[in-house]
Amino acid sequence: MDRQAVQKRFGIVGQSSGIRQALDRVRQVASTEITVLVQGESGVGKELFAQAIHELSQRRHKPMLIMNCGAIPEGLIESELFGAEKGAYTGAVERRSGYFEEADGGTIFLDEIGEMPLTAQVRLLRVLETGEFNRVGSTNILRSDVRVVAATNKDLATEVEAGRFREDLYYRLSTVILHVPPLRERREDILPIFEHFQHRFGQRYNSSAPGLDLSAKELLLRYRWPGNIRELRNVAEQTVVLLRGSTVSAEDLRPYLRGVNSPGGGLGLVLLGGKSAADEEGGARERELIYRALLELRGEVKELKDQIATLVAAARGSAPMQDPGRLLVMHENDTHRPDFSRPADSFIEDAPYEFDAESDDVSSLIEGDVVEAVDALPTLEDAERDLILTALKRFDNNRRQTAEALGISERTLYRKIKDMEEAEHAS
Ligand SMILES: Nc1ncnc2c1ncn2[C@@H]1O[C@H](COP(=O)(O)OP(=O)(O)OP(=O)(O)O)[C@@H](O)[C@H]1O
Ligand SMILES: [Mg+2]
Repeated sequence: MDRQAVQKRFGIVGQSSGIRQALDRVRQVASTEITVLVQGESGVGKELFAQAIHELSQRRHKPMLIMNCGAIPEGLIESELFGAEKGAYTGAVERRSGYFEEADGGTIFLDEIGEMPLTAQVRLLRVLETGEFNRVGSTNILRSDVRVVAATNKDLATEVEAGRFREDLYYRLSTVILHVPPLRERREDILPIFEHFQHRFGQRYNSSAPGLDLSAKELLLRYRWPGNIRELRNVAEQTVVLLRGSTVSAEDLRPYLRGVNSPGGGLGLVLLGGKSAADEEGGARERELIYRALLELRGEVKELKDQIATLVAAARGSAPMQDPGRLLVMHENDTHRPDFSRPADSFIEDAPYEFDAESDDVSSLIEGDVVEAVDALPTLEDAERDLILTALKRFDNNRRQTAEALGISERTLYRKIKDMEEAEHAS
């Protein structure tokens, strides 16, 4: 299949030398059994290329299983990949097969291989070299005919130096490296890919894609695209949905270029050159501050709730309180964020009126003002859920970027999402 046919079949747009080289490499290695390491930033198309390798290989009639090593809890990676005997670990209630058994004859795509724990790396190297493996908790040797395509957005050589990645596995994986360059290094592909997606979303939403004026095109070309093609796709989709019918200028477009943070690259929303660079940086910083503020707020809401609960309990006489005649009142002129590292007592000021803890006045006061305030607060769980959903939406369900923005690990995010799903299921 020639290069163009491959592009057409897999929807890979672009004529830059970077993309042409990547496609040629795909064509060279697809029909071999060689392990391929796809390297590139987030959103450049690593999975798309892995898919193309599998589909162009003899293995195309068997499945390609995908495992994201960064999203699965560390302790479960080995049993996911190699299976486990009954009782091999807590919760292993029955014998289960792993990816290497299930993908026999096919391909396994190991996404984010740089996140794989060292113990799993040992097993992986063994199966790559000998085709042999055993389930967790068993010494029985099993064989599997699987081709591995791995992907990473990290520099694995650096990971090796830091002792986080095995050198022998690195050499085994890096025989063939398929480098997918970031969009900013193949600027000639930006507009064709943008138009490709505009066309696609135009059909999906039954809407005509707006045209871009010169300033808009210039902006797209100068923008740094930290989220690469995924980000470009989102912007194309938004223009189709939100700016339909009109000719789009740089000013119209600008707000949509602020939605993605650069993974691993710090605050990456920087225009290349031009006077707006500072603006863009400010925007990213602002967004990060908002996230941090939300996270802090989350902690504060909980502490506030605890304090109010203590006060309410005390006022009702069910919990001891040093001075029941005092109630939580903030300084009127306190424009600063309350410092919750101070003891809760230091926020308790003289009540503006006298009341008797035993009388009806108290309950009316509580039920009136304070309790209403308590009711208005979301539960910590709800607030967290909303925050996670908002962030996931903002990052187009990209868990890595979402986790990064929320300041938690991808595994923690994975677990929280699982908990949320289970809670949803249970309700
Ligand atoms: N050259 C291209 N032409 C058209 N669409 C592309 C191209 N490259 C990637 N895409 C599309 O961009 C999106 C992101 O690609 P993909 O998921 O393969 O990226 P990735 O490198 O695996 O990202 P991540 O590291 O975040 O997992 C997908 O919708 C994919 O189809
Ligand atoms: Mg991917």
